[in-house]
Amino acid sequence: MSVACDQLIQHDVPLAERTWFKLGGTAQNFCAPKDIEELRAALKWAADSGATIRVLGGGANLLVRDGSVDGLVLSLERPGFCHIEIDDASEMDVAHVRVGAGVDLMTLSRDCSHRGLAGLECLAGIPGTIGGAIAMNAGGRFGCIGDVVERVRLIDTKGVIVDCDAQVMQFGYRRSSLGGRLVIGAVLKLRQEAAADVKKRFQDNWRFKKESQPLAAHSAGCVFKNPEGHSAGQLIDAAGLKGFGRGKARVSEVHGNFIVADEGACASEVLDVIEHVRGAVESHCGIKLDTEIAIW
Ligand code: EPU
Repeated sequence: MSVACDQLIQHDVPLAERTWFKLGGTAQNFCAPKDIEELRAALKWAADSGATIRVLGGGANLLVRDGSVDGLVLSLERPGFCHIEIDDASEMDVAHVRVGAGVDLMTLSRDCSHRGLAGLECLAGIPGTIGGAIAMNAGGRFGCIGDVVERVRLIDTKGVIVDCDAQVMQFGYRRSSLGGRLVIGAVLKLRQEAAADVKKRFQDNWRFKKESQPLAAHSAGCVFKNPEGHSAGQLIDAAGLKGFGRGKARVSEVHGNFIVADEGACASEVLDVIEHVRGAVESHCGIKLDTEIAIW
């Protein structure tokens, strides 16, 4: 059945509330498909109109510029992409968790840990959706999502669905190989352990994150990638940049790799802080930092 695109695609949709920074402009074209058929129709609309496709995950690692974002912004937030099915009966001590791309990672890692399904507790407190987490191999000091991915379901821009084994995804430091396709779901392989043990590890990891990062402020998490052998936060701190600000955006006093934005901040202020930090760190130690966050 064909899907009417005039109802499917919305125009000038504000994105600020959909990001953790809580700032930025609008999407010229926006679609939150309810199922695969609507997603295929949206992809076809984008192909026919030559629109670049951008997928909005949890908006946790994203800075949206102040104006209008062109192309098509897709969000897999509706129930058709947010299923969670746990199979903990067919293999000893293992649980296969089939999830949609729109599932919230923080909720999933907490719920699995509380049920004694181990493997996601290393991601305690990391925001975002499963789709976004897989696309950038989200993680931290204790591990990354690629470590527990068994298979990923992808859709290409023509609407063809393929299932890829984890090896094909080439998970690396904050990267994976999607080959221009979109993540629509995944199967995670977790271990069954005593619930109290997994829950304790989850809580310890969560506490560590809360103590070392400004989680209550509006930010996009770590802004820069860690250069090999260094911590970007430490380099920014050593360059004396904590607290450096422009307008309502500033380098966090808690963790140097976070830029926090007060209410009323605009994206250009965050971008100014990013460029100042990049230049000042390079002058201080000769290392040029690359951004980890997506900038639309
Ligand atoms: N440090 C400082 N000053 C700072 C920040 C850090 O001296 O302002 C020092 C710390 O004391 C520590 C070292 O730098 O000795 C490393 O810091 P941390 O443990 O906070 O880790 P990180 O390398 O800065 C990475 C990830 C984080 C993740 C943490 C913890 C990157 C770019 N960042 O940070 O991920 O939460 O490990 O697992 O890989 C994110 O991706 O958004 C993110 C926050």
